[in-house]
Amino acid sequence: MNFFLETLKVIALSLYYLLESLVFLVVPRRKKNVSGEIVLITGAGSGVGRFLSLKFASLGATVVLWDINQEGLKETSRLARENGAVRVHCYICDCSKRQEVYRVADQVKKEVGDVSILVNNAGTVIGKRLIDSPDSLVEKTLEVNIMAHFWTYKAFLPAMMASNHGHLVSIASLAGLMGINCLSDYCASKFAAVGFAESVHFEMRHLGKTGVKTTVVCPCIINTGMFDGCRSKWPNLFPSLEPEYVAEKIVTAVRQDQEILLLPRSAYFLLTLKHLLPVKAVALLVDYFGILHVMDSFKGRAKKD
Ligand SMILES: NC(=O)c1ccc[n+]([C@@H]2O[C@H](COP(=O)([O-])OP(=O)(O)OC[C@H]3O[C@@H](n4cnc5c(N)ncnc54)[C@H](O)[C@@H]3O)[C@@H](O)[C@H]2O)c1
Repeated sequence: MNFFLETLKVIALSLYYLLESLVFLVVPRRKKNVSGEIVLITGAGSGVGRFLSLKFASLGATVVLWDINQEGLKETSRLARENGAVRVHCYICDCSKRQEVYRVADQVKKEVGDVSILVNNAGTVIGKRLIDSPDSLVEKTLEVNIMAHFWTYKAFLPAMMASNHGHLVSIASLAGLMGINCLSDYCASKFAAVGFAESVHFEMRHLGKTGVKTTVVCPCIINTGMFDGCRSKWPNLFPSLEPEYVAEKIVTAVRQDQEILLLPRSAYFLLTLKHLLPVKAVALLVDYFGILHVMDSFKGRAKKD
């Protein structure tokens, strides 16, 4: 195809896809059935992971729950069974350890079957300035928040590719799209998670594995304890989200094969401005939206617990 024809085709298709996405803003997309799917959720012992487990289980999926927190896992499993779920499988797995991920993944394949929806949700944060962040904790953040994604994808993606059926879900953060002070470890890991997920998304397209879907989730602050103490300057624009609401939005995004989910909706506006405006104007906005001071009152989970 020559340059003129190809350019014309790209412009026409881009306009079509733009129109399609505008239509889907008002007309709800069809939701796929996840009943019978095997859904693995890391960090299922609390917060968003717990609600995701309960929601997928209530939709008839088999849920495989991973965490390092045994008590948390037990509680999630109890709640799921209380809601009528029968296919709930719990495994203690430290996702930051490559060999442990591969070992437990093999166990899951033998005992439960091939995972068809993988949700990388486990996460950790230091919440200190770069200079005050202990090296070992920086390494831990990167191991849990991004390296674990490599190991879990390597363990479960081959079966999805073989059947051309599956879904890879990455719980990143708005901190994976915008740098925030006192979050250098966390932002680095979440930017990496966004880039990793996007890269695998295009890899699947390039290989023709269009049945393997991907969803990247970038929420702002959620009331789970991980960012305890942090306050939003304009709660009407950027409210602290409830984990159950976030989990509901994620499950809907997965069922609608939505590639990227930002929460709340105002984040789409902020992100557009970030990419359009000059750096000095962005710095002004970062201050205006209170992002510069969001970590000032951070306590986090470790100190609280
Ligand atoms: N809380 C927020 O404000 C917020 C905002 C944006 C994104 N997120 C992301 O959402 C995800 C869920 O966070 P949450 O708010 O529910 O936090 P949470 O602390 O309630 O849950 C995280 C879970 O991950 C588990 N975990 C930690 N290290 C692990 C490891 N090495 N191996 C296995 N499990 C491990 C913890 O035990 C815990 O159960 C995280 O990826 C987080 O970064 C959270």
